[in-house]
Amino acid sequence: MKRNGISIQIYEDKEQASVAVAQRMGELIKAKQALGKKAVLGLATGATPIGVYEELIRLHREEGLSFQNVITFNLDEYYPMQPASDQSYVAFMQQQLFAHIDIPAENINIPDGTLGQEVVDTYCEAYEQKIANAGGLDIQLLGIGRTGHVGFNEPGSTADSLTRLVTLNEVTRQDAASAFDGLENVPTQAITMGVGTIAKAKNIILMAWGEKKAEIVKKALEGEITTEVPATFLQKLEGVEFILDKEAAGRIDG
Ligand code: F6R
Repeated sequence: MKRNGISIQIYEDKEQASVAVAQRMGELIKAKQALGKKAVLGLATGATPIGVYEELIRLHREEGLSFQNVITFNLDEYYPMQPASDQSYVAFMQQQLFAHIDIPAENINIPDGTLGQEVVDTYCEAYEQKIANAGGLDIQLLGIGRTGHVGFNEPGSTADSLTRLVTLNEVTRQDAASAFDGLENVPTQAITMGVGTIAKAKNIILMAWGEKKAEIVKKALEGEITTEVPATFLQKLEGVEFILDKEAAGRIDG
């Protein structure tokens, strides 16, 4: 099924959907290996991609999939944030994926939440450049926030926005409150790839599970393209896929 240029695949449940996404990534990695090339993956954190990472770990352990030729760039990190903190996306990625596979540590890129304000802009330009120097993102994984954010591109983000320091939306901070033991502990800022950074990926896979995401998925697919719902910018791109479970797809027009 297609809607406004976006292909949509609906699965019975998130487990089957996650396995399908991980297997696609595994195939890309192997195809690049056969050519002696690197696979460049754009990764997301949060609850949504956890099943994909579980399957990638299984492919590594049980089917010998190697990540030696993989370079990763994560979408975002809270700011300020120490990597050793439990809530950091560095810790998340280690726990959910990197500690369990054979990716070389130097191939992992996650925005640095420890920098001083005065060097953040230069750092963000270098992050963009590093993605370009790696040959660009082959696949970018995305979740979607209730505000319609992708990465931490909150309402107001423009289509040409690049990696930068942003202010988090209150809804997003509330959704993170339990992980931080209270809203007051949730950082107010983050470093995120921009909509324009994501748009340059050769393939973009947005995943959404559960009824809670049904309304924003409908808006992203069927709504007018607007900075108020940054995920609507995906309608303008080639090679975008939405991978949904039945509940998240529940409000898309028949
Ligand atoms: C995470 C990210 C966010 C999440 C989104 C959905 O790196 O960039 O855009 O993908 O907030 O979060 P979950 O998956 O926890 O519902």
